[in-house]
Amino acid sequence: MSKEIVVSGIRSTGYLHLGNYFGAMRNYVKMQDDYNCYFFVADYHSLTTHPDPKDLKANVFRVAAENIACGLDPQKVALYAQSDVPEIPELYLMLNMLAYKGELEKVPTFKEKARNQPDNINAGLLTYPVLMAADILIHRAVKVPVGKDQEQHLEMARNFAQRFASRYGAFFPEPVPFNFGSNLIKVPSLDGEGKMSKSENANATIYLADEDDLIRKKIMKAKTDSGPTEPNAEMPPYIENIFLLMELVSQADTLQFFRDAYNACTIRYGDMKKQLAEDMVAFVAPIRQRASSLQNDEALLRKILKDGAERARESASQTISEARRLIGINYY
Ligand code: TYM
Repeated sequence: MSKEIVVSGIRSTGYLHLGNYFGAMRNYVKMQDDYNCYFFVADYHSLTTHPDPKDLKANVFRVAAENIACGLDPQKVALYAQSDVPEIPELYLMLNMLAYKGELEKVPTFKEKARNQPDNINAGLLTYPVLMAADILIHRAVKVPVGKDQEQHLEMARNFAQRFASRYGAFFPEPVPFNFGSNLIKVPSLDGEGKMSKSENANATIYLADEDDLIRKKIMKAKTDSGPTEPNAEMPPYIENIFLLMELVSQADTLQFFRDAYNACTIRYGDMKKQLAEDMVAFVAPIRQRASSLQNDEALLRKILKDGAERARESASQTISEARRLIGINYY
């Protein structure tokens, strides 16, 4: 039986963090044996904020290295740069004809970005979800491992697939967001507000490249209070976040110990944060070390990306020929 097709990507803006790991990369690694996987560095998507050309290549290589450091095996998956697959922008152009200004303007991520960068509300920002749909549909993927923040983009990709079907005939499967064994996740920031992110609140985000002491410092600064005053009290969101992070990186019995202490009102948040800091360091340090040695091996990364792009283009070129034929662009 042929394996199900999986696609996902990570923008090459800023450093990867725990949210990227638990929302996306952890799933990539778990899926690589059982699915036909295409994972890419979304360098075109990063152009919406006009990065300095000098930084672009290093960013792309770093994201690739960090993916491999987290356990992705480039022999098993196609790992490539989005811009190495010209069929993606071709499909993006086709899908743009099926995407409407009104619906694009309503997308919450567009509204948020337009608020944050009022002097740079470019067309690429508006059509960001269309490019994302092209990334996914180009391989006719069915599953897309992502964090909760991408849910709406996936819904739009399904809409575009449906619209294509009603105009030109059924062709693209409708892709669904995916997280192993549970709902999509959102890794919260350490300040109790919002999520960990590449570009905002660096002090409340744990990056996979953070040094041990910086990780300790960030965790020890996480907001707490004087503790619950009655047994089994409801947790305030900032405390819940600390438990959530502990659930991700600590042993189950450690988590249970602090849960019990919370419920019995004997919890000492200082101790809990110290434990979390050590467990976090033990989790991040090996990834950081592997990524940094891989990053120095540019020849290897170049080869991996080139091989990945060849595999991705093989699949993408079949899709684009069929999409052209269905649309009626086949003259020779
Ligand atoms: P990006 O680069 O912002 O994030 C990459 C992946 O990490 C997930 N993520 C999180 N998950 C949980 N908690 C968080 N705090 C957190 N922060 C980020 C994201 O959900 C994502 O899975 N538009 C995409 C990149 C992209 C893409 C695609 C993804 C381009 N084309 C096609 C899937 C399929 C983005 O900017 O992700």
